[in-house]
Amino acid sequence: MASRRRLIVVSNRGPVAYDRSPAGERVTRRGAGGLVTALAPLVSRHEVTWVASAMSAEERALAERGPLEETAADGSRYRLRLVSVDHEAYRLYYDVVANPVLWFVQHGLWERILEPQADLTGPWRDGYVAVNRAFADAVVDELDRDPGAAVLFQDYHLYVAPRLVRDRRPAALLAHFVHIPWVGREGWRVLPAEIVRTIHDGLLASDTVGFHTERWRSAFLDSCEACLGVGAPRRPLVTVSPISVDADEFEALGASAEVRRRTPSLLPDRPERLVLRVDRTDPSKNATRGFEAFGRLLERRQDLRGRVAMLALLHPSRLSIPEYRAYADELQAAAAVVNAAHGTDDWEPITLDLRDDFLLSVAAYRDYDVLLVNPVLDGLNLVAKEAPLVNARDGVVVLSRGAGAFDELAPWVVPCDPLDVEGQAAALEAALELPLDTRRRWLASIRAHVEAHDLDAWAAAQLEALDRASTMRA
Ligand code: G6P
Repeated sequence: MASRRRLIVVSNRGPVAYDRSPAGERVTRRGAGGLVTALAPLVSRHEVTWVASAMSAEERALAERGPLEETAADGSRYRLRLVSVDHEAYRLYYDVVANPVLWFVQHGLWERILEPQADLTGPWRDGYVAVNRAFADAVVDELDRDPGAAVLFQDYHLYVAPRLVRDRRPAALLAHFVHIPWVGREGWRVLPAEIVRTIHDGLLASDTVGFHTERWRSAFLDSCEACLGVGAPRRPLVTVSPISVDADEFEALGASAEVRRRTPSLLPDRPERLVLRVDRTDPSKNATRGFEAFGRLLERRQDLRGRVAMLALLHPSRLSIPEYRAYADELQAAAAVVNAAHGTDDWEPITLDLRDDFLLSVAAYRDYDVLLVNPVLDGLNLVAKEAPLVNARDGVVVLSRGAGAFDELAPWVVPCDPLDVEGQAAALEAALELPLDTRRRWLASIRAHVEAHDLDAWAAAQLEALDRASTMRA
């Protein structure tokens, strides 16, 4: 394990979310989404100050009181500094620029943007850059308190912040990790050139820029060259290190009483075989095509009717954004089509469950026969790593070639192509038919891979790259 370091972790979403219950009490819950799940264990291994957005009214009120001393689930202590900006600036940053524009552009889905902004430069300046500036101010303040700490910026919300910190603290140790796909020079052409240039310039102010796969790294090198030319003044070390999960944590969770208690509530009548998907309600996750594929499977394999069901645990995501609300409706409609075509009085082919319950997802991870992970594109996809760690049924993963995790797990999964619905039906069928010894071997291989390349290895790689970059700079 890497030695204990002083880290300033900077991400839009924090490790814990605060709200008020209807009774007026403060309630906390684990921050949603793969990134926060993956980064949370850093807190127990290092001395962490976490800088994150104040997203709710409760968090904005807490931010006023200055940094909080927090305790993680395992008892480790960390500082949490919430960055609060005015409501409209946050809306422009999160609801207009980061999602959907940057997220959709980087997932090849820009045509899904329902109401293209007549002028993106206003939201960019008054939202995205303004919030990045507020983050940079907080980081500079933290660095003045502890100049030796390494700053780890995370993801597409914070592309400009490294430049804003670098200009004020030239000697700071800055890393940026991009958790979503990167697109090459052509993919960026849909946005104003000045915005694209500022994004690249922001990232290049870091000492290191990390990606989950070589695919995204090469695309980044390509778009940097197109934007800034080969002679850009300052070059960070651009690395590939696929993020992972804390294998021990997931194995312990899978065996826990809380998770076992939830298993019976997954489906009232569990069929012989269960196909599972666990995602946020996000167009990039491609759940509607997965439902259609399941319908086609039931058409071509009538013998499976009544014997197999699909459970879709989809956590409502980004519903303040019209494109995401529209997609949540599309999901319900797509599941209803399959259920109307094939369902009977005592069997529903697809159960769509929109509860946001992390432990329920872990209970479902234990119980699947086939796990469908079919995103259009995905930076990595942690579900494909988490679920096999706890599965208790020799389950098989059907994995999209568009997911970053495919590059690591390909030998032990049934592959699928995200836009090919018929092909996904065939992949589901192949997974259901896979002989037991292959299923066992593949599951064991994925587990061994994730255990050997776990979150400690990822964190150590980040810090090692940062040290290497700072030695090169000296
Ligand atoms: C993905 C992104 C994260 C994000 C998460 C949840 O995993 O890479 O940066 O936090 O989705 O999305 P949200 O908008 O709810 O934070």
